[in-house]
Amino acid sequence: MKKILTLLLFPFWILAQTPKETPNWRPDYHFTAPKNWINDPNGVVYYQGEYHLFYQHNPFENKWGHMSWGHAVSKDLVKWEHLPVAIPEDSVWIFSGSAVVDKNNTSGFQTGTEPCMVALYTADYHDSKKEAQYLAYSNDRGRTWTKYAGNPIIDLQMTDFRDPHVIWHEKTQQWVMSVVFPKEYKVIFYTSKNLKDWTRAGEFGNQGEVRKIWECPALVEVPIEGNSQKTKWILFVSSNGPYDKFEGMQYFVGDFDGSNFKNDNSPETKLYVDNGKDFYAAIPYTDAPANQKVILGWMSSWQYADAVPTFPWKGQMAIPRNISLRQTEEGLRLFQEPIATLKPKKDYLVFEKNNFVFSKEKQLDGMTLFAKNSYMVEIEFKRKSALIFGLRIAQLKDKKDDKKILQQTTVGYDVQTHQLYIDRKNSGVMIKENFASLDKTSLKLKDKTLKLKVLVDKTSVEVFANDGEKVISDLIFPTEGANMFSLFTSRRKVKVVSLKISDLSK
Ligand code: FRU
Repeated sequence: MKKILTLLLFPFWILAQTPKETPNWRPDYHFTAPKNWINDPNGVVYYQGEYHLFYQHNPFENKWGHMSWGHAVSKDLVKWEHLPVAIPEDSVWIFSGSAVVDKNNTSGFQTGTEPCMVALYTADYHDSKKEAQYLAYSNDRGRTWTKYAGNPIIDLQMTDFRDPHVIWHEKTQQWVMSVVFPKEYKVIFYTSKNLKDWTRAGEFGNQGEVRKIWECPALVEVPIEGNSQKTKWILFVSSNGPYDKFEGMQYFVGDFDGSNFKNDNSPETKLYVDNGKDFYAAIPYTDAPANQKVILGWMSSWQYADAVPTFPWKGQMAIPRNISLRQTEEGLRLFQEPIATLKPKKDYLVFEKNNFVFSKEKQLDGMTLFAKNSYMVEIEFKRKSALIFGLRIAQLKDKKDDKKILQQTTVGYDVQTHQLYIDRKNSGVMIKENFASLDKTSLKLKDKTLKLKVLVDKTSVEVFANDGEKVISDLIFPTEGANMFSLFTSRRKVKVVSLKISDLSK
């Protein structure tokens, strides 16, 4: 009898265990997997008109585990077509790595007339606690992959040794791999003529940010703006970000000769890619057309990624970013802009208003646009007397008393401290005790002007300031109905020189 009852009640038990679906939190123009967990982007490579995105994925559950490479392709880096899992786990988990197009068939894996794609990744032996570098190849535009019979390609019998990122180094006519010893805060460079046999070359480490282990290194050669002949190398490393105990990304600018990286800045200099909490493990696209330099990152933080309350998926990518190097007073610095293919849904601007001065909170309403929390704001402020100004998104006001703010995320600028910030302390669901935060970064106004591009997409806010000089990216979880939009100032004057808000909803 007891057995029958258990059997009868089992479906209800399953139902009770299944979290509620959260379609309101599904981003419109940021990448998410149809279902289940994702983290780092992997093997981002352009091949025959398609941008590939492989990614750390658990095909079975909405939490980290069973790591495999999920797969999607896009023609514009905005709309993605989902494809089946590309490289599934077997006795090892498939950790992060990169992919290249082997144009000259250096590997000998090409079977037809078209070049093959080669993926290099870390095999994580989760039972025996070892990590080694593996290879797989594809002769059908990344649709199916064969794991190389000669794996591992590099095995140092180490517990922590991961995230190979491979590029073709034109000057020395060889492949170069950057890979990390995470706990030693070191990037190790390997070189190869055929992607299979690797020789250890130089190493770089213990500089910049070392409060957290080093992961996901990547080298990319970037032209210096305004000087098309001159290039520099950027070495990206994921580690601690600007906030103690939180992940983030740093970059080094310097020279790379095929074996060694020379940092242009002092070893103490810490340069951050993003100043929010939710940008990690970004790597640059290889073989992008017209020498385009694009990076793509995971938009979350290991500090609370498991607590993200979305279902049936968990994890999203940040918007792909065009990167450049620009000369500043402090030296060469990374500038980032959201990918230019991010176009409003109906090819027109839903709202455009220019040249007005305001001195108290100004709610922009009457627009169904805000209801969807999926838009881009391009605004240029000119400071008059205001000391703090900016915008508030995903606002929820008390129905009986609209002075009472129940929820909001603030994107602001503080004139006295010269700081740009996102305040998400009251942004909605605080998914973990360490989620409430005010994330800020210094930014000097030029000619009293603050230019912002703010991307809002259901559960995310990305702020690009002054033509990409500084970026802040943060997740938010506003509840139902939290979707009003206001401009605000500290009761003094600020001028809006231009304002465009474009609909990016699906
Ligand atoms: C970075 C990382 C990588 C690793 C992968 C595992 O977020 O920890 O170092 O390869 O995630 O999913």
